[in-house]
Amino acid sequence: MAPTTTNASIRDFANAVALGLSDTPRWLPARFLYDAKGSELFEQICDLPEYYLTRTEAAILSRSAATIREITGPVTMIELGSGSAVKTDHLLAAYAEAGRPVRYVPVDVSASILRVAADRIEETFPSVNVAGVHGEYEQAFPLLAEFAPTMLLFLGSTIGNMDHSESVAFWRRVCAAMPLGSFVLLGVDLMKDVDLLEAAYNDAAGVTARFTKNLFVRMNRELGAALDIDRIEHVARWNAEWRRIEIGARFETAQDLHVAPLGRTFRIEAGERIMTEISRKFTIDELEAYLACFGLELIRTLTDDRRWFALMLFRKGDGECW
Ligand SMILES: C[S@@+](CC[C@H](N)C(=O)[O-])C[C@H]1O[C@@H](n2cnc3c(N)ncnc32)[C@H](O)[C@@H]1O
Repeated sequence: MAPTTTNASIRDFANAVALGLSDTPRWLPARFLYDAKGSELFEQICDLPEYYLTRTEAAILSRSAATIREITGPVTMIELGSGSAVKTDHLLAAYAEAGRPVRYVPVDVSASILRVAADRIEETFPSVNVAGVHGEYEQAFPLLAEFAPTMLLFLGSTIGNMDHSESVAFWRRVCAAMPLGSFVLLGVDLMKDVDLLEAAYNDAAGVTARFTKNLFVRMNRELGAALDIDRIEHVARWNAEWRRIEIGARFETAQDLHVAPLGRTFRIEAGERIMTEISRKFTIDELEAYLACFGLELIRTLTDDRRWFALMLFRKGDGECW
């Protein structure tokens, strides 16, 4: 697990920023939110009173981990966007309890949080073999066959951060890489009252605002963007048509944003917004129908009493990958 800022990763960041800023409306890929500081802020977000997602999902996992193990039997768990993986402890404990060796593969673009998670798990669960992958989700897809039988974990409703075309590309690749009979455990945030949804991304303590702004701090540091961060405001609001929270930065004044490694400058106008992240919200029925298009059969849905969040367990059948 190498440190984060190599020349190649800076170039990748610069190219991605230039692409998103050349588009209309402007956007930035969410994966760059997670440098070491971003991961630390995300951990704080998970503990916020308004951010019900993490504690609701953790409670479902705590109640249901043994049931999930009974359904899947022994599997290698490959977790995409694992972050601190604290919730995953419920699963690791349940699988370790069965007395067989457990292999766990956390996958994350954030080297710092991946290290923290791997160290903690190795210490807490000596019988769990942890093999972290520092990189993007796709890098772990070959392991779905190599370590079969496998269960792909995709928790925290991170799937909601993908737009429609990213989602299709992602599930096609999962479907192609996943052997028959493998499992997917998907954590999804369900549709609910808009006030609750908006509050989750506009916390009173301002941690989510710091998380959004940290992306621009990172651009100043790694790309020489030369932005005045105090003139950038965090905005998160519900888009009813697209059924998603749209999170971004609103520029209070016009600013020039430099992408030094490419020698390019982008003029951001006063009042202009740059989207940094989306968080789509789902219903269980629509996801069941959608993932059936990628050969995934829903075998169990676990949810909380308020039906705010769901863990959906799918098995790869022999259906076609659309
Ligand atoms: C919303 S957080 C969820 C963290 C954790 N799974 C949870 O449920 O609390 C998303 C995580 O995915 C990672 N991530 C984002 N985009 C990624 C990508 N394209 N490839 C690999 N990891 C990514 C981030 O670094 C972060 O740790």
